[in-house]
Amino acid sequence: PDTHRVKLVEVGPRDGLQNEKAVIDTSVKVELIERLVKAGLRDVEAGSFVSPKWVPQMASTADVLLSSQLSALRSTHGSSLSLPVLVPNARGLSSLLDLPGQDSADSPLTREIAVFVSASEGFSRANLNCSVAESLSRLEPVFATARDKGLKVRGYVSVVLGCPFDGRVDPRKVGEVARALKNMGAYEVSLGDTIGVGVPKGWDGVVEACEQKGVPAAQLAAHCHDTYGTALASILHCVSRLGIRTVDSSIAALGGCPYSPGATGNVSTEDVVYALAASGISSNVLPDPVAAAGEPWEVLGGESGHGERARRFEELCAVGDWISAQLGRENGSRVGKAMKGR
Ligand code: HMG
Ligand code: MG
Repeated sequence: PDTHRVKLVEVGPRDGLQNEKAVIDTSVKVELIERLVKAGLRDVEAGSFVSPKWVPQMASTADVLLSSQLSALRSTHGSSLSLPVLVPNARGLSSLLDLPGQDSADSPLTREIAVFVSASEGFSRANLNCSVAESLSRLEPVFATARDKGLKVRGYVSVVLGCPFDGRVDPRKVGEVARALKNMGAYEVSLGDTIGVGVPKGWDGVVEACEQKGVPAAQLAAHCHDTYGTALASILHCVSRLGIRTVDSSIAALGGCPYSPGATGNVSTEDVVYALAASGISSNVLPDPVAAAGEPWEVLGGESGHGERARRFEELCAVGDWISAQLGRENGSRVGKAMKGR
C-alpha cells in the first residue's frame, strides 16, 4: 500500500523530450530513466507510441523499452516500478504488444499505458486530428485490449484550464471527459494544464466539476506546465486543499507539447519535491516528512548542508543538471539552479 501522501509521476523522458528538435540518442533517454529511478522516482513515463510523422523524437520508444538497462531496472524493482508509455490509438497499443517480452507474465516491458484526450475541440484537432467524441470512441478498443492484457490505463485530459485555440474551457467539459475515461476503465485521470495558465482558484472549479461527475480527487492527478510561473502554487493548493495525491512533473522543467504553441515545460520535479518536503508533506521521493512543516533547512540538510535527506535531494538535482548539459540547455528548475549555487 502507498503510505506516502503524494506520488510523483515523472514525465521528463516523454513530455520533457518529445518537443526537442534535435534527435536525442536512445542511450541518453535510457540513461535519463536509469538516473531518475536511482534518484527515487518509481513512476517514469518512458515514451510514446505515436505517429513518428507527428512526434519524431518518440520514434525510439521501442528501443528504450527493449534496452538492457531498463530490463535491469525491472529486475531490481519488480512491480514497484512503473514505466508507462502513451498510446493515441489501437495502432500504438499494437506496436507495444508486438514487442518481444511484452507478453511476459512476470516482467513485461511495461504494465501501464496512458491515453490522452482533450477538453476542447481545437486542441483535440491539433493533437489527435479528430474531435473529442471521435477520440473517445477510438479509445474504446484500446481500453478493451488493455483490459484483456492486464495493462493498467491512465487517462489524460488536456487543456483543462485553457486552450491555445479555443480559449476558455468550461470545467463541466473537463468533468465529462474525465468521467468518460473513468467509465472506460482508467484507474486515474491526469488533468493537464497544457499551456500553464492555471492558478489555484481555477483548479477549485475543475476538481469540483470532476467530483460532480463521479471522479473523486483521489483519482485525479495534477499535470501542470509552468508557462506563467503558477504551476507550483497550483500544485500545493491541489495537494493541501483539494485532496489530489498524484503530481506529474519533469526533471529540470523539460518539455512542452509540440501541438501547444508557446507552452513551456512541466513544473520541475526538483521544485515540487523541495516544496512538498519543506511543507511537511511526504512524497514517494522524499518519504520522511520534515518534522516541522515550513522548515527548508531540514530538506537542505541543516546549517551544515549534510544529512541523508539532503544527500538524496542533491542526487535528484544532479539528474537535472546532467540532462540539461546533455541537451545543451540551461537547467529550467529554480531549485536545481539554487542547489548548484550552494
Ligand atoms: P492522423 O494523421 O490523423 O492518422 O494522425 P492516420 O491514421 O491518418 O495516420 C497517419 C500516419 O501515421 C499513417 O502512416 C499511420 O500508419 C501512422 P502512413 O500511412 O502515412 O505512413 N500512425 C502511426 N504510427 C505509429 N504509431 C501510431 C500511429 N497511428 C497512426 N500509433 C494520430 C492521428 C493520432 C496518429 C496523430 O495525431 C498522433 O500521433 N498524435 C499524437 C500527438 C502527440 O504525441 N502529442 C503529444 C502527446 S500528448 C501531450 O503531450 C499532452 C499531455 O502531456 C497532457 C497535457 O500536458 O495536456 C499528455
Ligand atoms: Mg503535458
